[in-house]
Amino acid sequence: MEAVMEKNIDWGNLGFGYIKTDYRYVSEYKNGSWDEGTLTTDEKVVLNESAGVLQYAQTCFEGLKAYKTADGKVVCFRPDLNAKRMADTCKRLEMPVFSEERFVDAVIKVVKKNIKYVPPYGSGATLYIRPYMFGTNPVMGVKPADEYQFRIFTSPVGPYFKGGAKPITLRVPDFDRAAPHGTGHVKAGLNYAMSLHAIVDAHKQGFNENMYLDSATRTKVEETGGANIIFVTKDNKVVTPKSSTILPSITRRSLMYVAEHYLGLKTEEREILFSEVKDFNECALCGTAAVLSPVGKIFDHGKEIAFPSGMEKMGEVTKKLYDTLTGIQMGTIEAPEGWIKVIE
Ligand code: PLP
Ligand code: COI
Repeated sequence: MEAVMEKNIDWGNLGFGYIKTDYRYVSEYKNGSWDEGTLTTDEKVVLNESAGVLQYAQTCFEGLKAYKTADGKVVCFRPDLNAKRMADTCKRLEMPVFSEERFVDAVIKVVKKNIKYVPPYGSGATLYIRPYMFGTNPVMGVKPADEYQFRIFTSPVGPYFKGGAKPITLRVPDFDRAAPHGTGHVKAGLNYAMSLHAIVDAHKQGFNENMYLDSATRTKVEETGGANIIFVTKDNKVVTPKSSTILPSITRRSLMYVAEHYLGLKTEEREILFSEVKDFNECALCGTAAVLSPVGKIFDHGKEIAFPSGMEKMGEVTKKLYDTLTGIQMGTIEAPEGWIKVIE
């Protein structure tokens, strides 16, 4: 694709918020099948008052990003894994699957149409891509809708946490995120609706995020409202919680690969007791929006855990992971086969 001029936006000062771009993708599901899909400039969704999404929250979403590489290409990071995860989510929520092939194709179409909103290389901003699906026809009894929309919009974004690479604080909340055998492992809108009170409360108390523990025993580390967690041990092993009630983060899976295959570090995905956390050297949140955000302190009902990496900068291993992952995404470090989808 020829080099394109970006929109005149103050990329360096963007936060993580919605900015309307020119086109969005829409496909409708009726009578048991998806239509061919279209791109539209209309950002509004008009729904029946009893639509499944409005009454019983039948909605799910995905999140991925488009990046401008050092040599001026526009790329997406592992969109096939978002497609696969959305299919898993839809099955769990009794929603129709939008095929993985069509998902990736629609992502490419919508990014191409909004190419001028892909921030320049080195600006610190990226184009966030939000695929989502919801039940549209009227329902009254508690049952799945018969009709759905699958849509994708984009928005240029900056860092999820103000201050970018500055360490943040977490607190252990009195609220749970996901129940055993519930929906914590899929990207259902309902998981986020029920976390809103906890996040508002965390902010009121001066913390950036909640670190949820497993709801069955309240002894094991799970994740935050919008990101998985990694820790670095004193002997530089990268460890991350294994749990059937957390979202299988694509960023986390990629980081564990990078730790092992690019940085030569030992990695472990296992149950992590909260009582172990005080012994770790570094902690960070990982996700598409969060990228890799260092954690400086965790507060648990008046007790404080302060990581040796401190409140000023990323820990050493976190920084290496961050530089390698973002280098792969921005094209300065060679990516593993199949990780980068070039938008041509
Ligand atoms: N955990 C939760 C609850 C999330 O909402 C997200 C965001 O997508 C993640 C983890 C990170 O997942 P990914 O790296 O695939 O963006
Ligand atoms: C993402 O990282 O894409 C997310 O969905 C997290 C958050 C914005 C909900």
